[in-house]
Amino acid sequence: MRLAVCPGSFDPITIGHLDMIQRACALFDRIIVLVSHNPDKQCVFSPEQRRDFIQRVTADLPQVSVEIYDGLLVDYVRQSGAVAIVKGLRQAEDYEYEMPMAIANRALCPTAETIFLPSRAEHLYFSSSLVRQVGSFGGDISAFVPQEIAAEVGAALQRK
Ligand code: PNS
Repeated sequence: MRLAVCPGSFDPITIGHLDMIQRACALFDRIIVLVSHNPDKQCVFSPEQRRDFIQRVTADLPQVSVEIYDGLLVDYVRQSGAVAIVKGLRQAEDYEYEMPMAIANRALCPTAETIFLPSRAEHLYFSSSLVRQVGSFGGDISAFVPQEIAAEVGAALQRK
């Protein structure tokens, strides 16, 4: 049983995140999407809301579960027995951002590899921050977030 962890803020989950999770399902037996704490980010949605959104859009993926964790990622990875940390890569900025974390995580937990999945071309410029900004102005976010949650996320962002 090969388990991978997909960590992130997911504030909120985008179509790009969901695509990465779906593609990770083809590579591993089980995936835990981990709503993690990024001390450099002030999230708009609570961890429970973010978990709920992810659960709803991955309901058709039986090998996926969703957890909240506010500690060090490698502690969770070690305790869960995961063999990989899966992250998505879009532009060069993502590489600059992700590589130091991948190297640190490997130094701290050599039993897990970080696997980068390249973004689909059509998702290259999708991000949670773009969703938050468009949504906060009342714009249509349905091209960027899974349809099951688009209306709720849009309404919530307008109220924030
Ligand atoms: O979606 P994000 O915010 O870019 O994801 C970054 C995240 C949450 C995966 C990263 O900040 C993280 O791993 N946080 C948990 C705390 C931790 O382990 N920090 C050290 C990373 S080397």
